[in-house]
Amino acid sequence: MSPAEPVADPAADPVRRWRRLVGTDTAVLLDGFHALKHAVRFGAEVPVAVTADREAALALADDLAPDVREPLAALLTEVPRATYEALVPRPHPTAVAALAVRPPREANLAALTREPRRAPVVVLDNPRNLGNAGAVIRLAAGFGATGVVTTGTLDPWHPTVVRGGAGLHFATAVERLDVEELPAGPVFALDPEGDDLRGVRLPDDAVLAFGSERAGLSSALRARADHLLALPMRPQVSSYNLATSVAMTLYHWSTTGFPSGT
Ligand SMILES: C[S@@+](CC[C@H](N)C(=O)[O-])C[C@H]1O[C@@H](n2cnc3c(N)ncnc32)[C@H](O)[C@@H]1O
Repeated sequence: MSPAEPVADPAADPVRRWRRLVGTDTAVLLDGFHALKHAVRFGAEVPVAVTADREAALALADDLAPDVREPLAALLTEVPRATYEALVPRPHPTAVAALAVRPPREANLAALTREPRRAPVVVLDNPRNLGNAGAVIRLAAGFGATGVVTTGTLDPWHPTVVRGGAGLHFATAVERLDVEELPAGPVFALDPEGDDLRGVRLPDDAVLAFGSERAGLSSALRARADHLLALPMRPQVSSYNLATSVAMTLYHWSTTGFPSGT
């Protein structure tokens, strides 16, 4: 009998590994260098990362992310440009892409309900715009918020939301819940008809709720709210964009309650 041919390990080939993982429930596409950098920085599990230009990607790491240069160098495999372009829906200018593992729902729920809470939870009540949701997750990460909860049908881990969030889904707890399942804590719902936010100190355990782009706050969320607050706005302007409303509110919280060392 002739000696057996060595069997190729599919896990050793990044392109095969990619094809095996992509499209599964837990695979999260990290599109571009910055998304991968953020995900690695905030502890994401990244089973596969490819680039069409490893030297350029590592030069970016030297320049912009020396703190994660080593793990990025260990993760990134160079593949031909045509292979990279076949793996991603839209090639990114940095020619970097990776698949990360979506954190389990239980881990997010544990983070959202952990007490005492040192930073607010942001709730988007039935948001419709994927770009807004991504921008809010990026804001929440930047302000060190405990997490972002969405109600309604939008998946906060949709690839377009992840793209808008620049890989920062891994820096905060992102989950979809029903209004009845919201974490404990005083609910401050933002609405142009509320009391002026500037007269209120937002506590660290606040649940900050924002309505949908079209319809505003749902009746279920209004019923759950302890306070209705308005952002300063000149008469005749109907409302602000959802993500900018979150930005102003988190900024207001940060002026009194921003967690140190985050
Ligand atoms: C685009 S607005 C929704 C507009 C919607 N037509 C309405 O009737 O409320 C999206 C969300 O941003 C927040 N928002 C926008 N402008 C606000 C303001 N001036 N004061 C408080 N919240 C505001 C609210 O939570 C609102 O539900």
